[in-house]
Parts: sequence; structure tokens; C-alpha cells
Amino acid sequence: MAEPYVIKMPQLSDTMTEGVIVSWEKNVGDAVKRGDIVATVETDKAVMDVEVFRDGYLSGPIAPVDSVVPVTLPIAYLVESKSDVDSSEAKVAATPAAEAAAPATAAAAAPAATAAADVAPVPRPQAAKASPLARRLAAEAGTDIERISGSGPGGVVTATDVQRAPAPFEVPVPGNGRPMKSMEKAIARAMASSISMPTFRVTSHIHLEGLMNAAKAAGVSVTVAIARACGLAIAQHPKMNWCYQPDDKLIERSQVDIGMAVAADDGGLVVPILRDCEKRDLSELNADWKDLVARARTRHLNPEEFTGATFQISNMGMFDVSYFDAIATPGLAAILAISSNTEKGSAFTVTADHRVINGADVALFLSTLKELIHNPVDWMGPGGSAIPEGDWDYDVVVVGGGPGGEDCARDLVGHKLKVALVNDAPFPGGECLWRGCIPSKAWRAAADRMRDRADDALLGVSGTARAKLVWDDLEQHRRKVLETRGEMALKTDRGVRIDYLQGFGQFVDEHTLAINTGGNNDDPHARAAIPAGKAEKSITFGCAVIATGAPPFVPPIPGAAEGLASGGVLTSDTVWSLAAPPKKLAVIGAGAIGVEMAQIFHDFGARVTLLEAQPRILAEVEPEIAKQLTDILEQEPRLEVVTGAAVGTISGTPGAMKLAYSDPQGKKRNLTVDCIIMATGKRPVLDGLGLEAAGVASERSVVTADSRCRTSVPHIFAVGDVIGGLMLAHTAAQQGRVAAATILGENMQYDQDRDCGVIFSRPQAAFVGLSAEQAKAQGMEVAEVKVPMNIDAKAMINNETHGLIKIVADKATHRVVGVHFLADHADTLIGEAVMMVAGNMTLEQVGEAIHPHPTQTELFGDMARRLLSRLRRSKKKTKA
Ligand code: NAI
Repeated sequence: MAEPYVIKMPQLSDTMTEGVIVSWEKNVGDAVKRGDIVATVETDKAVMDVEVFRDGYLSGPIAPVDSVVPVTLPIAYLVESKSDVDSSEAKVAATPAAEAAAPATAAAAAPAATAAADVAPVPRPQAAKASPLARRLAAEAGTDIERISGSGPGGVVTATDVQRAPAPFEVPVPGNGRPMKSMEKAIARAMASSISMPTFRVTSHIHLEGLMNAAKAAGVSVTVAIARACGLAIAQHPKMNWCYQPDDKLIERSQVDIGMAVAADDGGLVVPILRDCEKRDLSELNADWKDLVARARTRHLNPEEFTGATFQISNMGMFDVSYFDAIATPGLAAILAISSNTEKGSAFTVTADHRVINGADVALFLSTLKELIHNPVDWMGPGGSAIPEGDWDYDVVVVGGGPGGEDCARDLVGHKLKVALVNDAPFPGGECLWRGCIPSKAWRAAADRMRDRADDALLGVSGTARAKLVWDDLEQHRRKVLETRGEMALKTDRGVRIDYLQGFGQFVDEHTLAINTGGNNDDPHARAAIPAGKAEKSITFGCAVIATGAPPFVPPIPGAAEGLASGGVLTSDTVWSLAAPPKKLAVIGAGAIGVEMAQIFHDFGARVTLLEAQPRILAEVEPEIAKQLTDILEQEPRLEVVTGAAVGTISGTPGAMKLAYSDPQGKKRNLTVDCIIMATGKRPVLDGLGLEAAGVASERSVVTADSRCRTSVPHIFAVGDVIGGLMLAHTAAQQGRVAAATILGENMQYDQDRDCGVIFSRPQAAFVGLSAEQAKAQGMEVAEVKVPMNIDAKAMINNETHGLIKIVADKATHRVVGVHFLADHADTLIGEAVMMVAGNMTLEQVGEAIHPHPTQTELFGDMARRLLSRLRRSKKKTKA
């Protein structure tokens, strides 16, 4: 007969010295396959499965249920044939768990005769090293090795140290005593070893009411919400997560794993761990916690679920405990004891390891934690609807009918709220529809048609080269598109039951808006003036949303104001009144408006000078993209780009405007042009809005708002250009939806790091997410990959070979954090890039996706695979 295979009591955690047989999942004589679970055992922390790693028949001598067996000693055997099965029970120490003697050795429940004398050494002490003989002697004598200080090199506990160790101090008490259960012993041992830690305590009182409401609204446990707040606070104070290890090592952890004490059903203490509390979403943490608690109560956790926390929380708030502190054990940086909420707040007491953390670190950590817990909406989302109780005319009034205001109002009525949209124009649409995105794209479309004719001959198409612009026809078409869209929008707004009120909104107090109709006119194309005089009508509201936009800003250049008055200087408000395209044009400012206008009028046939004060064009666009676009623009036959220009004075009359400026070398130059387009940015105008009456704060004429679009007044919100940042239509629309969600009590935030933009030049410049420069400034380690358009088949066919596409990805996670374009058709190509960034897609996902051939979207897959291959290779190299 072959030697039977021994099934040993497994060591399932660092601290486990013995296990209790809880159940046999197979009977003696059963055929067992590799990977089968044959038994469950209780360790010092949990009930776990015993798996076998080969086939055979389960055989005795078998350790009976409830017996205590030291780790590595046999609990049963596997034999090769059924006839070899021994069905006896182990005779030696079939010691029922509750009767087992306390030290592991005395409970040696070895069923095999050979194992009886073989005492397993105690585990290595947590805070020091010990020789194998010392550990064996400690096991034989039942001495707690954790208590012994080592005299060997580097503090190693030697056999002599064990022999000399004094017997535990025992004070006689009446009664016989019962042996401790494994878990009780493990806790006792951990607590005793905590005496070797130099700890100190710091307390701060934190009010929990707001957090409790927010947690209730979000449907998450308050303890999990506190753990998440601790995660966020530890991310700012990383020392709270470091760990001292003997001898004199500090483990500087960045992942925040928080152990949270749970009382098990049988009275024991279990500490399951919530992982990645600094970065995981609250609802995900809560779902994890629910599962962990349920299993912790019955002690069915896997070792990885309760090992490796460096910060721990003990929440006794629910037990009406006014103050307590907790004991930090080796392996922890600190433990936080949370008492019940009182008038003063709840006492948060941190017991910290002074070898790792100083008092000031804990004080700063507690102060950050307090700030987070006192402002739960900032990181948890709203705790319910923002509309205060009251008998308001409207639940919400939205002031301004551009993309920001209109999207906000539509979302709100979709939730059955009573909403007024106050707009100082006969139709909604705002600047985007009437003076911005849409009309400029009508001009761009005409310019594109003319530009594309130049390439017709390449494809063998002749007779199309002499395109001629009929300005009046273009203007008629453009105005018709705007008017049709304006009418469609108003019809839809009314259809979904938004009360569209034409007039200029002026806050009277924090719940009243006057509607001044003094400036109303019927021309939707022109911006309405701020009305003088008093308003006749006012309405009350529960919440308000300010979405009043930002008109063009004209810097105080001498002669600019006179030029605006005469019509020789135009802005993005007034350029639409041109009776004919200019033949000679100067554009001041090379932002999106300046670049688009300069090239459109160039394509219409004008000679154009584009003057920019900064050393580069398009500040919001990725630097390499902006640089290449500048080079391309400079090759246009009638377009000059002057960066670093200092504009001096403006004079003249429409048709003969004079502009004096200095080039970067300081050389003075003069231009005579038909007109000057001033594209020097936009700035909100808050005059007349009555924001002071409502208490809404602003800074340098920009309304202050956070990522949930909340202003300084809790029930007043602001979105779009009026809050600064990227002044783009889709940005405003997204912020409108964020404000609506926040008013409704939902959790949504605007994230500029995932926003995008397209500059409608030829080729188009576009971006989504972060440039490598921006990502690095946020502390990310990124890699980028780029592809020039001139290698692409479709680009070659259409002679659209200028430019490049680049992807920026996080080196650690491979997440795509930004995509940047200088390419024709970037306005449609960017759609896939938006999904990559918004959906947290990785290079692997982009590289594995099947892209259709022949399309330019294939470039995304190629780039992702190329970057992955590079990252793999450089990783290998680093390892080597
Ligand atoms: P902008 O702020 O983007 O650019 C203005 C440019 O003018 C800056 O580069 C600035 O340095 C320059 N400038 C300012 N004063 C100057 C002076 N005295 N002399 C020379 N240069 C001067 O503003 P822009 O282009 O007027 O556009 C306004 C807003 O509309 C921006 O937020 C823009 O992003 C948005 N917009 C977006 C479009 C798109 O996404 N396709 C199209 C049009 C506008």
C-alpha cells in the first residue's frame, strides 16, 4: 500500500496557530477530487474551507468535529484505493474545542501517532524575530512569545530568552476557568502585543447630523460614509496610513484599506476590511460592506478579507457611548474610535502609533475629516431636494434661455416640477443659436465647400475650381436655419410645459425675481439691451438657476469703443450684420472665435491679419496641436498670424479702419482694413441682475459656483458662461443638467477633466480630457502615442493629410485620460474619444475593440495597441 497522503490543518492566516474542526464536508470512504472541499475549520478569525490538492479516498484516523488541531498536523488522510480506507477516529487529542487547554501545544490534536510528540512551534512574533528553537520551546512551555523581549542580534528572541521568561502573572480568582476559544486567544494576543506600541490619543468633536441625513438619502451606511470620508482625508494626510514594521521599517502605503470592527453573532470581534476607500465610489463600498458584514457576523471571511488594514475604525456611536478610545495593534498606523453624537458632536478619538505619526499629523487629519463630514454634499451628493418648503409661484425659475438654462429647465419639468424660463429674447437658444456656434458653422460650411473645390482636380473632378460666394444667399439660408431652430425650441419648451417668459430677470430678494420687459424686442438675432426702469411683474421661486451667459469682452484699446459705435469694429455679437464679407480684415485675439473667423473670411477671399497678444494661439488646446495649426495657418495664401503682438490704437471709419500694433520684435506696424473683428474673450455682465439682493457671491464679475453648480446661496444655482471656465455650449448644457440633478437631490457633478471642445478651423483642432502636461500637473504618470494624418488612407485620398491624433493614457491603469486632434473630421472622430474618456476606458479595451475598415476610427485601435506594446516593453526593461 502506498503511503497515505496527509491532509494537514492548514495555516490560513499569519496569526493562526491551531484550528477547530467545524464540519466534515465529505465522509470517510468518499471519493475525493482535487479541489474538493473536505472540511471547514475555524481559525482565530473566521470559518474557512479545507481544500485538497489531489484525488483519493478520504480516510482516517480522522480528527473529530470540535477537536482542536495545531496547524500543519494531520486532520485526515487520502488513500489511493477504497480498500485502504481506515474509518477510525483519531484517538489522540480529540479534544473538544471548549475543553482544549489554552496553549496551542496542549491542544495538539494530532490524529496520527507520529504527530503526537511533534509539537508545532508558535508563529513568529508580530513585533520581532524569533529563532525556530525559541518558537518550539515557547510552544512546549505554553509561553506567549509576544511578551518576550529578544536579546539576540537585532532583538531576535532566542531559546534562552524563552527559558528565562517569567511565568505569566496570575491573580487567583474563584472558579475553574475555561480555555479561551481561538478567536478570543487571537484578540488577547493582539491586545497584549499592543503594549509594545508607543501610542497617543487625540480627540476632536464632529457633528454627524448632516452626514447621517446624506447617508440616509444615499441609502448607505453611516459607518461606510465615515470610512469613505476617512479614505479621502487619509489621501490628503498619507502618514495616517503608514505602518511601522520591525526592525525600524516604515511601509508608506498609498492604498487606503480600512478595517472596521464588527461584533460576531457569537460575541467575538471580527475586523473585515474595506479596500481602496480613497478612490472607490460610496455605493460600491457600501455594497462590499453589506456582504462583508453579513459574513463577518457568522465569521465566514477569507483571509484576504481581514488582513492588511493599516487604519481601523471602531464605531460605538449606536450604543450611546459618550466617549471611548480603542487600542491600536501592531500593523496599524492608527485606530479611530467613534462615540455617539451629542450636542457637542461625536467624539472622534484617534489612537496612533507614534513611531509613524506625530500629534500634529493626527490633528490635521481630524480637521480635514471634520470638514468632509460637515460638508457631505461636496463628496456624497445632495441629501434630498434643494427646493425649500414654501408656497412659491414656481418650484424653479431659470434665468437665461441658452443651452445651459434650456437643458436645465427641460430636465426639471421632466421630473414634474413647475418651471419658468425667463429669457430676454423672443426665442430660446441664447448665444449658441443666434450669435455663436450655429451661425458660425453655417459660414464655416460655405467656406468648407469652397476650400474643398481645390482638391476636386486631384480626384479627377474638373469644372468646379472657380467657386463663387453669393453672400446674400448664404445669409438668407443661415438666418432661416436659426429662425427655424428657434421656433422649434420654443415649441418644444412650451410642449413640455416650461413657462417661457420673455423679459430681463432681476432678483428682488432670495426668493423673488422681477421680470423687466422694458428691453424686449422682436429681433431674436440681436442681443437685448439691459432695460432701464422698473419691472411690473415679479414671481417667487423655491430655487433659481442663473444662466445668463457672457457677452464679448472688449479690452480698453484706444479707439475700440469708437470703432464699436461706428461699426468698424465688430464682435461675435455684431459680425452677423455684415452686408458683405470684408476684403481686408484684421482679427484681434486668436482664441476659438478669432481663429475660426480669420480662416473663414480667408476662405471667402479676404486678406487677413490675425493678432494675438500671447506667444501662442488657442490657449485651451494641447500645445503641439496649437503649434502645428499655427504652422498650417501661416501657409495659407492670404493669412498672417502674429503672436506676441501688442495692439496700439484703432481709428478710421468702416471700410478704412486703421490699426497700429507692434510685432514681437517691437517693430511698429500699421494696417488699413475694411473692418476689425475683436475676438478678445467673453466676460459675464452682472449689472442689473440684482445678485446682491439675493446674496449670490461673485468674483471679478464671474458668479462663484462649485462642481454641483451651487452658488453661495444653497437654493440658487449658476451654470454656463456666467460661472467662467470653458465657455462652451455643451459645457453649459452639462452644467444645466448638473444643476437640475442637484435641485432634484441627485448626485451629479461637472468634471472639466472630461470635457471637450472642437475648434472649427481647417483642419479642426479638438480635445477631450487632459493633455499630458495637465495630467502631469495632477500628479499622474502618463504616456502618449500619436499618429500623423498623412499615413492614413482616407486622409490621402481626400488630400486631408495635415495634422495628427494623440492619445494620453495613465501609465499605471492604462486608462485613456485625453485624446487630442488636429484633423479634418475631428468633430465626428472625437465622439469615440469622448466615450473613451467619459467611460474610463483602458488602452486594452480600445485596442481590442473591432473598428470598421476603411475608416479613420481604426487609428484609435492602432494607437492603443502601439502604446500598450511600448508600455509592456519598457516595463520588461525596467524589471531586467
Ligand atoms: P478666448 O478667450 O478663447 O480668446 C481670446 C484671445 O484673445 C486670447 O488668446 C487672448 O490672449 C487674446 N487677446 C485678448 N486681448 C487681446 C489684445 N488686446 N490683443 C491681442 N490679443 C488679445 O475668447 P474668444 O475666442 O473670443 O471666444 C470666446 C469664448 O467662446 C471662448 O470661451 C471660446 O472657447 C468660445 N467659443 C468656442 C468655439 C468652439 O468651441 N468652436 C467657437 C467660438 C467661441
